[in-house]
Amino acid sequence: MPADLSPIDKAKFAAAKRAVDFVTDGMRVGLGTGSTAAWMVRCLAERVREEGLRITGVPTSSRTAELARSLGITVVGLDEAKWLDVTIDGADEFDPQLNLIKGGGGALLQEKIVATASDQMIVITDAAKAVQQLGAFPLPVEVVPFGWQTTKALVEETLVSMDVLGRETSLRMNGGNAYVTDEGNYIVDLHLNRIGNPRQLALVLNQIPGVVETGLFIDICDIVVIGHGDGKIELRDVNQGTVEHDQINFADAKNIFADLGD
Ligand code: 5RP
Repeated sequence: MPADLSPIDKAKFAAAKRAVDFVTDGMRVGLGTGSTAAWMVRCLAERVREEGLRITGVPTSSRTAELARSLGITVVGLDEAKWLDVTIDGADEFDPQLNLIKGGGGALLQEKIVATASDQMIVITDAAKAVQQLGAFPLPVEVVPFGWQTTKALVEETLVSMDVLGRETSLRMNGGNAYVTDEGNYIVDLHLNRIGNPRQLALVLNQIPGVVETGLFIDICDIVVIGHGDGKIELRDVNQGTVEHDQINFADAKNIFADLGD
């Protein structure tokens, strides 16, 4: 393992490495987006190379598609795959019910469509993303560019009657310009601090014309795999109500790190 990998990166890697054990031959796999998901794509690619694992990947962003292809994973669009066995993705926050905030990386729309079209969604994460209540991480809301300021104002008006602690909103920027998603939309981040009723908030925000989707993933995630910097793993299965513990041996992953050029 590269000596300069931070404890957080080791934790993300450990979660990703354990999660790809859920993938078996012939599966159609949703490939998430973000730094944790990128580890997962590398770990899957290693299994494809080393074990001859045959899988079809459905990426949730152009970034992930490019990475997966470059590592030799067969990639198709969701319309070709139609239904997936499993999606493995990162998250920005998860609560005890495994409700999530996602979209810190801007890919929430494709991520939600792909995860919803999967038999199972597995979230891979480090322990720092566990919260009792969602909302410390700004909630991303994807909006169409047409009339975005009006949509943002309607979102702000809606927040007045919602059980949240903060009500600031900001247009996500990329340098001096609005950040543009793979779908050509903008993202408004909601600085809510605490979300009292995530299900209600998701339903209400989705009613606003101009809102395409929110980063609240309610009842979508089935399993969370929490990695730690020392390779310890905790697996929480919300459907079974079980918690398991495991351990990743970093020495087993030397091929993945060799690919990274270390
Ligand atoms: C991208 C996402 C990511 O899964 C989320 O932001 C976590 O990213 P990272 O693994 O880099 O911490 O939702 O839209």
